[in-house]
Amino acid sequence: MRIALGSDHAGYDLKELLGDHLTSRGHQVEDLGTSDATTSVDYPDFGAAVGRAVATGAADLGVCVCGTGIGISIAANKISGVRAAVISDVTTARLTRQHNHANVVCLGSRVVGPVTATDALDAFLDAVPEEGRHLGRIAKLAALDDELATPIETTEVQAT
Ligand code: RB5
Repeated sequence: MRIALGSDHAGYDLKELLGDHLTSRGHQVEDLGTSDATTSVDYPDFGAAVGRAVATGAADLGVCVCGTGIGISIAANKISGVRAAVISDVTTARLTRQHNHANVVCLGSRVVGPVTATDALDAFLDAVPEEGRHLGRIAKLAALDDELATPIETTEVQAT
């Protein structure tokens, strides 16, 4: 699979480790940065970059890392078509692929150790998205993307 990878400085070391792991599993990894652990950068830039790669089809899946996994997941989820999930164990990793059809997974380098992170990523990649009752829910998530793309009707406020 083609997997886009991104992190901020806090997630850099874990990103590198996961990137090497993915390559060793035969995946084609596109590393979108950041490029070191010491230069402070902003996680929205990297979450959005990974999200765009997945949403445009340049990558099949995305992997994001920041300190908690949360900030970078919020950023990735701003991109229409992205279903980014924070995972912290093999169960959340497996279920978010099976049930939510997550296409980006986010990990917190300050939350999970390297072994748990690697196991969780493997569980995510090995899981198969389930159909049945989940398809309608995924369609509702896609409808929310459309809703966000529609300008919100504004009501004129009368000055008093
Ligand atoms: C960076 O210090 C930290 O705030 C960031 O990596 C992340 O945890 C935000 O959600």
